[in-house]
Amino acid sequence: MIDLIKNKYLSNNKEDVLKHVENVAELAVGLAETYSIDIEKTELAALLHDISGIMTPQEMYDFAIMKGFEIDPAEEKYHALLHQRVSRTIAQEEYGITDSDILNAIECHTTLRKNASVYDKVIFIADKISWDSKGIPSYDDLLKSGSVETLDKACYLYIKYQFDNNLLVMAHQWLIEAYEDLIKV
Ligand SMILES: [Fe+2]
Ligand SMILES: [Fe+2]
Repeated sequence: MIDLIKNKYLSNNKEDVLKHVENVAELAVGLAETYSIDIEKTELAALLHDISGIMTPQEMYDFAIMKGFEIDPAEEKYHALLHQRVSRTIAQEEYGITDSDILNAIECHTTLRKNASVYDKVIFIADKISWDSKGIPSYDDLLKSGSVETLDKACYLYIKYQFDNNLLVMAHQWLIEAYEDLIKV
């Protein structure tokens, strides 16, 4: 399965995306150990989270319409925001993933969502650390403690940083709801 996934990126000339998902997998597996969640499920979620990166944003949008997705206004405007949900469908339909922890973590890795699971938060944070940790509150110390409260705190600080610094061109409803949810902790 893992080789099949990796070859999909390579055969579509997406070496850069493969490098990114492998990096996310490494970070996420470390977090999975800290937070006592299943390592194999975490690795699969990480490797598949950007599998839709082989498509263009327009192809993602056409795919979403074909599948009957309800489209968020932010996704309507920025089709690339759909990639998290498209990746979930590909994981399900092409790779036969049925585990909801894996599928849900893939589906909300960019925006998170309200009532997010530990898998959702681990993939979300690993993805963010992988892309760019400049200017973001230091997660390392925060994440080392291993309590779910600190994982929540890391997610909260990351989203807060995005809002405070106007980094969001248009906030997705799921992100707003995740923020409202985490602000309480
Ligand atoms: Fe992504
Ligand atoms: Fe990613």
